[in-house]
This record gives sequence, C-alpha cells and structure tokens, in this order.
Amino acid sequence: MQTFKVLSVALLSFLALSVRAEKRLLSSWEFSHDKKSWTKVTVPHDWAISGEFDPFYDRQVVRIIQDGEKEATKKEGRTGALPWVGKGYYRTVVEIPKDAKFASLVFDGVMAEPQVFCDGKKVGEWKYGYGSFEVELLAEAGSHLIELELLNRPQSSRWYPGSGIYREVEFITGGEIGIENWGVIIHTPTKDELVVKTECRGKPFKTVHTILDGMKEIGKFEGERFKGDFELWSPENPKLYTLKTEVFDKDLKLCDTSINRFGVRTIKYSKDGFFLNGKKRKFKGVCLHHDLGALGAAFDRDAFRRQVAIMKEMGADSIRTSHNIPSKGQLEVCDEMGMMVMAEAFDSWAEPKCKNGYSLFFNEWWERDIANMVRKCRNHPSVVMWSIGNEIPEQIDSVKGPNLSMAMQRKIRSLDPDPERKCTQGCDRMPAAIESGVNRVMEIPGVTYRLPYYKAMYDDTPAKIVLGAETASTISSRGEYFFPVIETNAWLRHGHSSSYDTEWCWWSNLPDDDFAMQDDNNWVIGQFVWTGFDYLGEPTPHPWPAHSSYFGIVDLAGIPKDRYYLYRSQWRKDSDTIHLLPHWTWPERIGKVVPVYCYTNGESGELFVNGKSQGIRKKDNSSRLDRYRLRWNDVVYEPGTIRVVVYDKKGAVIGEKSISTALDPDRIEIRKERFGNLLFAEISIVDSFGNLCPRAANKIKFRAGKDLVFKGVANGNPLCLENMTKPIMSAFNGKLTAIFEGSGTEIFVEMLK
Ligand code: GAL
Repeated sequence: MQTFKVLSVALLSFLALSVRAEKRLLSSWEFSHDKKSWTKVTVPHDWAISGEFDPFYDRQVVRIIQDGEKEATKKEGRTGALPWVGKGYYRTVVEIPKDAKFASLVFDGVMAEPQVFCDGKKVGEWKYGYGSFEVELLAEAGSHLIELELLNRPQSSRWYPGSGIYREVEFITGGEIGIENWGVIIHTPTKDELVVKTECRGKPFKTVHTILDGMKEIGKFEGERFKGDFELWSPENPKLYTLKTEVFDKDLKLCDTSINRFGVRTIKYSKDGFFLNGKKRKFKGVCLHHDLGALGAAFDRDAFRRQVAIMKEMGADSIRTSHNIPSKGQLEVCDEMGMMVMAEAFDSWAEPKCKNGYSLFFNEWWERDIANMVRKCRNHPSVVMWSIGNEIPEQIDSVKGPNLSMAMQRKIRSLDPDPERKCTQGCDRMPAAIESGVNRVMEIPGVTYRLPYYKAMYDDTPAKIVLGAETASTISSRGEYFFPVIETNAWLRHGHSSSYDTEWCWWSNLPDDDFAMQDDNNWVIGQFVWTGFDYLGEPTPHPWPAHSSYFGIVDLAGIPKDRYYLYRSQWRKDSDTIHLLPHWTWPERIGKVVPVYCYTNGESGELFVNGKSQGIRKKDNSSRLDRYRLRWNDVVYEPGTIRVVVYDKKGAVIGEKSISTALDPDRIEIRKERFGNLLFAEISIVDSFGNLCPRAANKIKFRAGKDLVFKGVANGNPLCLENMTKPIMSAFNGKLTAIFEGSGTEIFVEMLK
C-alpha cells in the first residue's frame, strides 16, 4: 500500500510538469431513467444495486442448453433479480481548454450499448458492456455537455451484469502532438531488457523514457531498448517500476507525458509446462465474475483489493476474469498485489447462449473488442494469458470453430508485443471440440470440467499441455450441513447445498478430483476454480428465492466457506492449515451421527469428542475423498467440544483445533479490516463464552460513525431478499459483513432479538 502511495505522489508531480496534455478521471455525473428527474452520482456507478430483489426482473422462460436442460423452464433470479434491465441516461459537462487541439473520453466499460453525445450530437457508440473504448470529441474550447444513452436488454446475460457507467471514465485533452491512449507499449523479452514503442498523434521531435524505482530514477533513454538490472515481478514479489514517457516538439517543448507502471517478468509455455521467470509452476487460479457483492458491479479498487487479499491468503496465484474483459483497475490491483491474470474476451460468439447477448453484435464487433482488450491489458505484468472465449457453441463446428479461433489468436498476436503470452479458450463440448479441430489450433488447450477428457486433449494437441480453464463448480452454502452426508450431483433442492463439500453438478466435480488431476499429470498446467467468490445471479441449482451463486469458495459477504480451507491446505505450502467441520451445535442430533472432516496440509490426525478419541485418520488413496481430507464418518453427536490434533508425515504434531457447542446468542464480535478507503466489518454473533452461534439469524443494525458512510451489507445467504444497501440485515448462520466508506473507524452496531 505504501508503494502505491509513493507512486501516486510521483505520478501527480509528473503530470504537473506536462505542458499540454492532461488526463483526468471524470467521476461527477448525473443519472436518470427518464431524462426528466436527474440524480447526482459518482462514477463508477451501478444503478441497479440499490433496488429491491424481485423475481419479476429479467424473469426468463428458457432452456439452458449448456446445463443439459431438455425443456424451457421459468428462471427467476438468474441474473440477480435486481432492476438492471432497461434504459439509463447520464450527463456531465467537460471543459476543453482554450489551446487544446485534441479531446477524448476513454470509457473503461459501460453496461450496456452506450451511445455518446456531445452537445446533442452523437460522437460515438459501443455495444459490448465489458468493452473499453475511446470517443474523440471536437476540440472546441469551452464547456460541452456530454450525454450517454444506455440500453440493457432483457435476457442478455447469464449472471448479474450490473448497469450504468460501472467503470472509470477518463477525459483527455492535449495539443497537436500527444501520446495515444494505450499508446505506450511495453515488453520485457528477457529479465534485463525493456522494449518500448510509442504511438503518437502528430510527429514528436523527441521521445524520452525515464525509469523509476519508487521515486528514484534508475534509467533514462531515447529510442526503444533499455538494458537494466531489474528485480523480477511474480505473485510472491510483485515488484513494479514506473516508466515516464515524454514527447517533445521541435522547440523541445514538452507536449505530453504518459506514466505507466510495469513489471519485469518472463513467461513461457512449452511441452514442459508453464514457466514464470524460468520457474515451472501450475496455476492455482480462481474464476471471478466482476460484481463485488453488496457493492454491485460498480468497480471499486479497494473492494477488489480485499478480494485479492482473501484469495492470496488461500494460496491462489491467478484469476480468470470470467467471462469478460477485466477493468483497468482490476489489472492495476493484480499487478500491485501479485496475481497472474487470464484476461478473457467473451462468453459467446455469433451463436447465442442468451437471446439478446453479445451474439447480436459479435460478427461486426469482435475485432474491435479484442483489439481494445489487448491494447488495454498488454502492459500489465499480471496478464500472462488471453482467453478468446468460454464454452463457445462454435467449438463443435469444424469450420467456424477452428477458423475463428485462429483469426482471434492472429489478431491478438498482431497487437501483443509479447509472443510468449499465449491464448486459450474454455471448451466444454468433449469430445466434439477435439473432433472439430478447435483443441488442436489453440496455443493453450483449455477445458472446463470434464476430467475424463484431459488425456484425449493432450494426445490430440501439438501444444502437449492442457489447462483446467474452469474446474470444480462444487456447490455449497456457508454453514449449512445436511444428513446423511452423501456425495451427489443429484441437486438436492433444500434451498442450500451442503458445506461438507460433497455436492456438484452433472458437468462438474469436487475439488479433490481436480487436485488429483493436477498432482498426477505433469502436462496439466493448472486450474481456475469456479469460483473464488459467490456472485449475483446464476443460483444453480436452487429455484427462487435463490438469486446468487453457490459455487463460490467464499460467500457473497466475503466470508470463507469450509472449502476455502481445503484449497488452502493444498495451495499454501508456507503455512499450515487445520480446519474442522461442521459446527458442533446440534441439539436435534444428540445420539445421532454427525461426520467430522478436517481440511489440513497435515498427513494424519486424531479426533476427540469431549476428550474421547475417535481414532486416527491418515490421508490415503482408498477413496475419492480420503486423499485430501481427514474424515471421521461415524462420530455420534453429544454436546461439548471436538478437538483434532494433526500430524505431519514424520508423525510430529503440527497443531490442533477445537470447536465447542454454542449457547444462546449473547453479543456480537466485530472484526474490522480496512482496504484503502473502505472499512469492512465482519460481524459474528457469539455466546457468552465467545463461541460462534452457528444458526443465529438476528437482525443487525448499523450506523456509521464520524468520517464514514454506510455502503452496503451482505450475509452470504443466496436466499436472502433483504436490500443490500440498507443498514439493517439478518445474520446468516451467525455472520454478515457490512461495508463503510471513509477514513473514520467508529461504527455503531446493534443486535436485535
Ligand atoms: C460453466 C460456465 C460458467 C458457469 C459454470 C457453473 O459451464 O462456464 O459460466 O455457468 O458452468 O457451473
């Protein structure tokens, strides 16, 4: 965080030096649904998140082909049950300085189909809500009214897309000579070499690059190449440098300055696997949708920093921005905190998955969207892989499938300075995607689920590597357990899925299956789990009132589910994990079996119930669930305390963990965590001994103290219909998280009976 502050200060002082060109965030806008009544808003803005959940919104009667449905059924909550469909309007005023010769607006993402007007005249449009684009304005000095008209069509998404100008907008003005937006192109072909190309408007007389390490200048050069002694960027050491690029006219007057952060790292994909800085590694990745829970789709760097921090603590080193182009802010945070990124372009091409989705525009727009994705993302050291699509229906078409796949890879190649940053797509139609030739033409063959086909893909592809582009889709609700514990993909519709982590979908599997695939096959280069966090929409397999997902390793409130520790036990080699489940408060199960699981990196463990040993369990290959978990399946419940002692391979104790039966709710405990300007308060309802009350559902009321405003609250229950932007909500299984903005620290929390 410190580095970031230093960099921002550096950045501001350089901008102040520039004579002409200026780039600033345009965050004050007005919003309207009808062009009659207007409200002041701050962009990024999501107009739907403050709405009430209602099954009416985007209610669909559809057959989801990729889920194997045989007939159309009513789908409610599929896209989050919030009012994102419809038209929206934004307006603001920009001031173009008197001597400007150039002015433009750069939109990082507008949901959706924005048309841009300047003083009433249309100056640009875009279709894809996840696409970034620049609109040039006539550079006439003075005030200009900028207006946007947006359209979100029903049935245009498979999840909650959000609505509005949900990402940043930059306003650029400059003289005749200037650096193009995304016009500084950085590549580090080797660990001690920097190659920079600069695309300009007009003809600069001279271009000078300065390299800074923090505030310290470590190099200056004209031309394209610089040799230096760099510290390398990696998830473990996300070292960043700053490149200041200045262009001068023939009188040596400074015309424009562009500041770009970069990291030096090498990547390589070969038959031997994936290498970062010469070291082989497998992706320990998660897929993330773009919404931020109670904050909706409005991008917020600090909320995303929290997501990344939670994922890193679990041991994840990479994120797939499923299924769309990441925001600039996401990339900056991944650079800064050390997360590798698979930047994904599309969820569909011309063949639709949703009636009104991107397929309406694909043929005419894909080249522009891919081009801007590459231009925007290419300087970020975090981006190590592209994806041209997710489960694209054309993968089974032996003409369109390979042809379009090759065309897109060629397009990316033509704009990406790094020839080693390769391209994948997630194929799900197996073996059709092998038969169509799509698997063979991909630089990185990628598959979603379908473990039995990994070997066939490997045999088929010249690349001789396979990526688990999307894995697991195990479903669970935090703190919900069902008996008897069964392994099933039969979709038990309790409204919840079991936190014993034994439920999956017919197309998917359990984390244990993916661990085994990764561990047993050298040519599998890693996995991206569906998903790191729960997201709004796609409540598969549960019907209304379910309206958010069950796939997350972490719930919508940012609270880890049990599964978090299963991944942590495999992914963190530097820190021990010992996690016991379920909770131990089962008044209705006295004398009945309550299986106990332990997720740990340890090799064996002994479980005690009120001091009585339940035996030692050791990880082994005897069944699917015993290789990566310790399980005591026959424990008979009695109130009290369960305790596990865990041993490593040599039999030495690595630690222990216990859980006790909770009494009635007595008070709340607050765990506050600050990320930049956001304060997250995780509330736990506990008994008089401090034990979590694992079923408590008390309503909790919030009030922000000095220098704070309340932003939102979530409890992680996909069935909860309480508004996420009002400062009162019921806890779910004893917990919830409230979010505040500002520099203050004091919050007032009240537990109602
Ligand atoms: C995949 C799809 C994801 C999500 C997931 C749920 O097939 O790519 O977007 O729908 O299934 O399991």
